[in-house]
Amino acid sequence: MKIGIIGSGNIGATLAHLFAKAGHQVEISNSSGQASLNALVKSISSNNVTAATPEGAVRFAQVVLLAIPWRKKHELPPSDLFKGKIVIDAMNPYSENFEVIDLGNSTSSEEVTKQLPSARLVKAFNTMYYEMLRTGARNSQEERLVLFVAGDDPDAKAVVSKLIDEIGFTPVDAGSLREGGRKQQPGSSIYNDPMTVEVAYKRLAELDKHDNTWPHRD
Ligand SMILES: NC(=O)c1ccc[n+]([C@@H]2O[C@H](COP(=O)([O-])OP(=O)(O)OC[C@H]3O[C@@H](n4cnc5c(N)ncnc54)[C@H](OP(=O)(O)O)[C@@H]3O)[C@@H](O)[C@H]2O)c1
Repeated sequence: MKIGIIGSGNIGATLAHLFAKAGHQVEISNSSGQASLNALVKSISSNNVTAATPEGAVRFAQVVLLAIPWRKKHELPPSDLFKGKIVIDAMNPYSENFEVIDLGNSTSSEEVTKQLPSARLVKAFNTMYYEMLRTGARNSQEERLVLFVAGDDPDAKAVVSKLIDEIGFTPVDAGSLREGGRKQQPGSSIYNDPMTVEVAYKRLAELDKHDNTWPHRD
């Protein structure tokens, strides 16, 4: 597939490596410009990755990965460019001081949907630390770690799930963008705790029963 990545830091660069290794064509971008990406592109031992502008990466892509700080999402390319594209939201709502931003009754991906209403948004790659993502892939015969997906477009979720499988992890459907997205938010029991499928389904069921991550308003 043609995958456009916005953000070339820990998550963007790690996934550029993994997607390229799985045979996908990747265009990666950041805010510093294409020249700043030369070293990264060179370090990926495949010809599948090129540097782009954020707008160029979106135009190129069938699937766009958002991997910039959530607080900077207003700097993303214009919403029209994302029309009909599968967009993976890997962004978590942290402030500059790494405090979780209080979104009240909303969730971070719902806020992204408000900005990109014509995109087919899937929340994924939010719960795993990038070093674990970089080193945690297993072949299909081994017990794999899971990556969660959430979204309201089943076909888009299936495409992202296939990408997850191709890079060596097991996709687990956490539910709708709102409910599944909420489960993936910082502080949840599935956040930043690498786990197998069996544990993942247990944790999701527990979250359904005893939810203490959702803001309770009296
Ligand atoms: N780190 C993790 O383990 C992890 C795990 C799961 C999810 N996440 C989420 O993934 C996102 C990225 O995290 P990270 O750790 O990869 O961050 P990072 O290492 O700080 O990288 C951020 C990247 O975003 C780029 N960027 C910033 N503003 C931009 C803009 N307006 N247009 C294009 N690119 C822009 C930066 O490029 P310049 O340097 O050129 O500005 C940089 O390449 C965050 O939302 C984070 O919450 C992170």
